[in-house]
Amino acid sequence: TLDSSTSLRIAVQKSGRLTDKTLNLLEGIGLKFDDYKRSLLVKCRNFDVELLLIRDDDIPEYVEDGVCDLGFVGANTVAEDEADVTILRGLDYGVCRLSIAAPKAGDIQSAADLNGKRIATSYPVLTRKFLESKGLSADIVTLSGSVEIAPRLEIADVITDLVSTGGTLKANGLQELETIFDSETQLVKTNKPLSEGKQALIEKFLQRIEGYQKAEK
Ligand code: PRP
Ligand code: ZN
Ligand code: MG
Repeated sequence: TLDSSTSLRIAVQKSGRLTDKTLNLLEGIGLKFDDYKRSLLVKCRNFDVELLLIRDDDIPEYVEDGVCDLGFVGANTVAEDEADVTILRGLDYGVCRLSIAAPKAGDIQSAADLNGKRIATSYPVLTRKFLESKGLSADIVTLSGSVEIAPRLEIADVITDLVSTGGTLKANGLQELETIFDSETQLVKTNKPLSEGKQALIEKFLQRIEGYQKAEK
């Protein structure tokens, strides 16, 4: 059954590394919004579009379920969620990597040293897949945040976490051992059936995004 709501609903990270760049992109392709600082659901003034501002971790699920038709979210989050969504395209912002990091000067100097160790992470799925691909076995301790402090608290021996500038690792005496996943922002679309109107609007946006990206180069 085709959804009856008319507005194209787009999920955007509420506050974080992707927020400003995503809103800039949307404005750059001609969408105009009222003040989005105050509301979680923001109507577009010149298109039949609304933005839902939510935690990035929730975006794949909302798009999978068809609560949102589109979402701008990190490839890391989409992959970790194993979400059943269509990746329309990669966008060249929000670039970061999921890496293994260990205390500097510790006894773990490469991924091969991970057997039997404890790994703290907010990315248990991607971390497990990496371990399996290397034939390694380690315990995964799932934490929702502040993963970088886990080795000092002796909750874990090493971590896997997102690295962008490397500042967080450095500030916590950790060294990057290996990248396990390269990430950038992705535009994802629900696999739930969409009305022709929404599909046409999505096509139009994709063309504009392409133009915007070319102009930025
Ligand atoms: C990631 C990661 C580190 C930080 C690394 O968190 O968990 O805290 O970024 O970046 P750096 O290498 O530039 O220091 P993020 O900002 O994505 O927020 P979240 O973990 O709350 O989603
Ligand atoms: Zn997050
Ligand atoms: Mg963080």
